[in-house]
Amino acid sequence: MPGLSRMPWIGSQKAAEMESENEIAILHGCNLNMLGRRDSRHYGSLTLPELEEMIEAEAARLGLKCSFFQTNHEGELVEKIQSLSGGIDAVIINPGAWTHYSYAIRDALELLEGPIVEVHLSDIENREDWRRRSVVREVCSHMISGKGPDGYIEAVQWLASELQAR
Ligand code: DQA
Repeated sequence: MPGLSRMPWIGSQKAAEMESENEIAILHGCNLNMLGRRDSRHYGSLTLPELEEMIEAEAARLGLKCSFFQTNHEGELVEKIQSLSGGIDAVIINPGAWTHYSYAIRDALELLEGPIVEVHLSDIENREDWRRRSVVREVCSHMISGKGPDGYIEAVQWLASELQAR
């Protein structure tokens, strides 16, 4: 937010906080709108709005602004990622099943400038063989899997310290 330093009625500490507020986008792919109805042994029992509320609270605590997006259409996710370029500081993404085969999502992510954290609620390393493969992993800065909703909290914390260090 440029120009805050020229606003003496805003305390200098507050102005510094506002000027440095980073924005992160939290992206969810196919079937994640069905959280709360999917197998709770893998995905827990929170609904997507409940999960987003939790993420937002942690982001706010750490001074990060966040926005959320979910779709069941691969091309829509590609377009959303493309639209973020240049306008966002970091991304958290759980592409759902697209994780395992979507080179289109992988290639779109590759064009983003900031750090990207890949998150999975379930432990994809220790389920079916086909879930062990992630085609987006190599374009992400960090991956968290198998920690349920806490994985998203860890992702927000990881990004907060990463963005602060930049
Ligand atoms: C998931 C794991 C994927 O294998 C699965 O297709 C999902 C969710 C997870 O959060 O654990 O939809 O990404």
